[in-house]
Amino acid sequence: MTSISFQRFDFDELDSTNNKAADLACLFQKPLFVVAKRQTNGRGRRGRSWASLEGNLFVSFAFDGAGLSAGQWSVLSGVAVMQTVRHFCPEADVQIKWPNDVLAFGGKISGILFERADNGFWIMGIGINVTCHPQETTIGYHAESLAHLGAKTDANEVLSVLIQKFQALLSVAFAESFEPIRQVWLDNAYHLGQNIKIKQEKQIVEGTLIGLDLEANLLIRTSKGLERLNYGDILYEKE
Ligand code: BTN
Repeated sequence: MTSISFQRFDFDELDSTNNKAADLACLFQKPLFVVAKRQTNGRGRRGRSWASLEGNLFVSFAFDGAGLSAGQWSVLSGVAVMQTVRHFCPEADVQIKWPNDVLAFGGKISGILFERADNGFWIMGIGINVTCHPQETTIGYHAESLAHLGAKTDANEVLSVLIQKFQALLSVAFAESFEPIRQVWLDNAYHLGQNIKIKQEKQIVEGTLIGLDLEANLLIRTSKGLERLNYGDILYEKE
């Protein structure tokens, strides 16, 4: 297998494309993706909501996850979104904040939320700010959109580039290895070599971000030595 054959489902409005993708995955037991023009209850990470204004892209892919680890899927999805943003805004300074937040000129332009459906399928929910972005954010950084960066496009066109990038990365990962994807991630990593803080459930780990291993764990040099983290959120400087 070098790509995944997804069935497409379109909706005008949903509470969350992640919910619908999980329901449909349980019903059909095959790879699919769900797109909505609007979400009434879009979810983000860390219990946040995701502003879901019409014109932006809201899509959730469902697949069984075979072939890669959870961390590798997570990083690969961020690379696919980063390449999509760069396709439309080739001049922009685009970076990936581990594991898969894509920032353009330091502003959050997309978000990815991984969940599991009841049948065990992975649900990869992606939001990309295409035509607009929230003016106020509850995170320490501003938000961005492709339109604000000068791109003239729409959610459907962004989705088709995202699918091409995702499938191309899958063929690399399946036919070769995760290593080329790790390299692309490293070449575009936010704060590589700098001091960062990672918030986990019960602690904040602080140290220098020195890289990513082949399992997509973050490598941090702390005062206690080298640590490998497989979950957590890098805090923005102002958080
Ligand atoms: C984040 O906090 O950065 C993740 C945001 C994920 C938003 C997307 S929009 C499509 C899908 N449906 C949701 O309810 N959330 C994800």
